[in-house]
Amino acid sequence: DSVIHLGLAGLGTVGSGLIKIIQENNDWIVRRLGKTLAVKTIMVRDLAKPRNVIPSPGTTFTTSMDDLINDPEIDIIVELAGGIEFPRTLITRALNSGKSVVTANKALLAQHGPELFELAASKGLGLYYEASVAGGIPIIQTLKESLAGNRIKALTGILNGTANFIMSEMSEKGEDFATVLAKAQAKGYAEADPTLDIEGMDAAHKLVILIRLAYGLDFPLSKLTVEGISKVEQFDIILAKEFGYRLKLLAQVRDKSGMLHAGVYPALLRQDHILAKVDGPFNSILLEGNAVGPVMLYGQGAGDLPTGSAVLADILALARTNCVPNNTGFLESRLPQAQILAPEL
Ligand code: NAP
Ligand code: HSE
Repeated sequence: DSVIHLGLAGLGTVGSGLIKIIQENNDWIVRRLGKTLAVKTIMVRDLAKPRNVIPSPGTTFTTSMDDLINDPEIDIIVELAGGIEFPRTLITRALNSGKSVVTANKALLAQHGPELFELAASKGLGLYYEASVAGGIPIIQTLKESLAGNRIKALTGILNGTANFIMSEMSEKGEDFATVLAKAQAKGYAEADPTLDIEGMDAAHKLVILIRLAYGLDFPLSKLTVEGISKVEQFDIILAKEFGYRLKLLAQVRDKSGMLHAGVYPALLRQDHILAKVDGPFNSILLEGNAVGPVMLYGQGAGDLPTGSAVLADILALARTNCVPNNTGFLESRLPQAQILAPEL
């Protein structure tokens, strides 16, 4: 087919970013893909809400999930609504209706990923999620494909743009926590419930997803040690800086003789550490493969266009294979549980 029809759920920060990129890069997309992308239907909660993007004239708005699922012309469902129960139902129904799915929803995948991946695999469909971890940084594809031949010894990430932005601005501009959090929300970095960012749970969701890809193991969210930045004070940041350190919210996993040691916590990094220089809404992942050695990825971890970029990459990957995925050689469902090393106190 020369047109790939998309059904989009959610036109907030990421959904709007996706529409902007599709519009701006349309001729390039057609050249790369040999096909056109058409956003046929957009599902939102509130039809009367003003929007900061104007979808193409052929696009219809709806508040009904049925209009996405029951439309035989829609090839791919793109879930950018967030939350748990609504997207879980939407994605399950989409896969059961023979439609591949792209999502940016790390909370959902961390908690219900295995059941959804299993359903996708049983139907021979795709459930792609590059945007779910570290916004525009291609870490999912990197772990799944490019570094597939490695055993990952350790992975350390700055995986939450909001928390990193808050600590950077508090450090550089001397602004207080609440002021910077409000700025992060206005810029579209924060989750609808920003306690997920601040209390480390968003980074924990992402870490669970990365552990699956890096180790082929399920590390239950409930078993991760998670501490956020809500107790960090300006004084801590200034003092750390005076002593030559930077305070960063790190997500980390290490393989210690087959046992995994993993957690999310604020940590002091020496200011000459490569991750200490990752500021603002930027994210970074530093990992160590047993063959490749160290690899570091860096880029914008949140926001409309960077995240939209990752969503679009997944859509294009599916569109290239006529919405039936290539065998990626990695089954994300039915993973054995990790042997977990107790946190060091
Ligand atoms: P957002 O700005 O809050 O937008 C959510 C959109 O979904 C809104 O358009 C909303 O409709 C719609 N929506 C929510 N619940 C719905 C429901 N039950 N039925 C129909 N429509 C519904 O969220 P966002 O920041 O774009 O994030 C979307 C997803 O991407 C989340 O899973 C988030 O974790 C993930 N993500 C976000 C970022 C980021 O930088 N923001 C980065 C990576 C991943 P209305 O507009 O009518 O309210
Ligand atoms: N709220 C998330 C963050 C969005 O700040 O990193 C990107 O996943």
